[in-house]
Amino acid sequence: MLAQHDYRYYVLDDPQVTDGEYDRLLIELRQLESAHPQLVTPDSPTQRVSGTPSAAFGEVVHQVPMLSLDNAFADEDIVAFDRRLHERIGTEGELDYVAEPKLDGLAVTVIYREGQFSQAATRGDGVTGEDVTANVRTIRAVPHTLRGKAPALLEARGEVFMPTAGFERMNARAAERGEKVFVNPRNAAAGSLRQLDPRVSAARPLNVFFYAVGAASGADLPPGQWQLLQWLRELGLPVSPEVRAVRGVCGCLAYYHDIGARRRALPYQIDGVVYKLDARAAQERVGFVSRAPRWAIAHKFPAEEASALVNGIEFNVGRTGVLTPIARLAPVFVGGVTVSNVTLHNIDELHRKDVRIGDTVIVRRAGDVIPEIVSVVRDKRPQFSTEVVLPARCPVCGSVVLRVEGEAAARCTGGFTCRAQRQESLRHFASRRALDIEGLGDKIIEQLVEQGLVKSPADLYALNAAQLAELERMGEKSAANLIAAIEKSKQTTLARFLYALGIREVGEATALNLARHFGGLDALMRADEHAIQQVVDIGPVVAAQVAAFFASDEHRNVIRALQDKGVKWPDVERPRAEARDLAGRTFVVTGTLASMSREEAQEALVARGAKVAGSVSRKTSFVVAGSEAGSKLAKAVELGVPVLDEQQFLKLLEAGGP
Ligand code: IVH
Repeated sequence: MLAQHDYRYYVLDDPQVTDGEYDRLLIELRQLESAHPQLVTPDSPTQRVSGTPSAAFGEVVHQVPMLSLDNAFADEDIVAFDRRLHERIGTEGELDYVAEPKLDGLAVTVIYREGQFSQAATRGDGVTGEDVTANVRTIRAVPHTLRGKAPALLEARGEVFMPTAGFERMNARAAERGEKVFVNPRNAAAGSLRQLDPRVSAARPLNVFFYAVGAASGADLPPGQWQLLQWLRELGLPVSPEVRAVRGVCGCLAYYHDIGARRRALPYQIDGVVYKLDARAAQERVGFVSRAPRWAIAHKFPAEEASALVNGIEFNVGRTGVLTPIARLAPVFVGGVTVSNVTLHNIDELHRKDVRIGDTVIVRRAGDVIPEIVSVVRDKRPQFSTEVVLPARCPVCGSVVLRVEGEAAARCTGGFTCRAQRQESLRHFASRRALDIEGLGDKIIEQLVEQGLVKSPADLYALNAAQLAELERMGEKSAANLIAAIEKSKQTTLARFLYALGIREVGEATALNLARHFGGLDALMRADEHAIQQVVDIGPVVAAQVAAFFASDEHRNVIRALQDKGVKWPDVERPRAEARDLAGRTFVVTGTLASMSREEAQEALVARGAKVAGSVSRKTSFVVAGSEAGSKLAKAVELGVPVLDEQQFLKLLEAGGP
């Protein structure tokens, strides 16, 4: 019965019992077996962990060598691959391929004799591998007995991997206990499988997908890769649900781009896709080159990790004076872009990771996620590396740097006298989601501040085209365009205006909630901390920041000056009571939506009584994920928060209530 549950869970992906129920059954079986030892069969689920720690792994010589794959990165490489196959096979029409995810794990071969699990080995050098029978036996996804009519001998080949959620849970637990953490799920899977004590492997959340057959006898192999995968599945061996039969190069590339976009939402890591010519007769015709088949190719995603040299560590001063350590790297291509600056967030993070000038570090950039330093390669640390300490004075204005007890951030105390803070405030004010002044780039802001033309955002509205045309990189035409853009920005919304002010702790979602709640700026400026706390999603910390911001004369003056210059917004319509059918639910909107801006989506949700939050937590009811959604989507998947794509989201808005 437990084997049946394993089959439903791992092969059919359709479990009939909860994990708890499964564990209860396993305990019951153990009790039964200890009372009646004569009933214990070698393929009993209780016998997964057997054998004791060994000093080393035995060797296994593969009857059929375990091949590797040629790699391709660019679409053109796939076009060339397909062309070569056409030439060798001599056919005209499009070829049939099977496209599979390239799992980022460890290749294994599992030998079944007369349908019974008998031995498992790693790939090793392709000819000789390590005997990991005892460890693979502990993986619940690997059946001990094949289903249906099993061949006399079957060598099933596939990839052992660790699902991302299991990996993170395991690492979190290890970190809590002060034990070693693994860098990524691949290393964790490899490390777990190569444990000398199978009891340790058994405790690790390993899984497997099969994708090939080595030696086989006593059955006719299906005539193509697609049917082979179906056959493996029928035998009870898990096959990735993402495998697809595709036609021609177009089919291959469509698959690559589709799964690439969904990659982060998959429960396990993949580092590319594999295309395999479907027909076995054709495979045999084209054969192999050295260790790799000519009929298959791995189309990899851009590497997400690379090593780089730290040339320097500097402190950047932000809008609110926060000093952020930035590592300046020797440029490195990672995750599809060249990275040369990586933030270390704050001084604690810098010290925790112990990054020093001269170090070699591992840089990671997954998709559109900002690059980060994963770790320092200790072996490569030069003899005299320079440790970095928090500067006592602001590197930009020389004011004293203060660090409030209990806070991670250290701040320059210069306020608006600090050029960096002024520049950053202006940059934020003009940014796309704030007042959206097109053409007011960093270089221009820098000059405006340096020349004393602009001290506060209100000064932007006093500039004229002649002044702008004087600046470097500015012609008359672009000066006129910028003046027009500044003029256009006067017509805005209250939420954008509040966001643009750069109040600490007030991001877009909070600005929107404030605007919705108070309806107008005067009401908000009159409100005290207590009144501000009545706004959805605003707690005492944010309320204090907001109240303090509006209590400052300097800020009130800037606001008045902006209004005098003509910055205005329509009265905000408060949500109607009868439309509050999403009340009590919290949404996070991430990625790019095709039919509306993120702000419009948030407004629509708030209008229906929903809360809109900036980050995903267990309390989030739904995450709305547009294209190129990144870490927030990943977080939602990790926490099991339901994710709505744009279609589902639009339906929800239309239907009125989930
Ligand atoms: S087929 C004859 N299919 O990639 C072809 N390999 O770079 C042999 N891998 O050693 C491999 N997912 O560890 C194949 N769907 C997949 C795969 C896959 C991951 C790994 C495997 C192999 C390596 C080659």
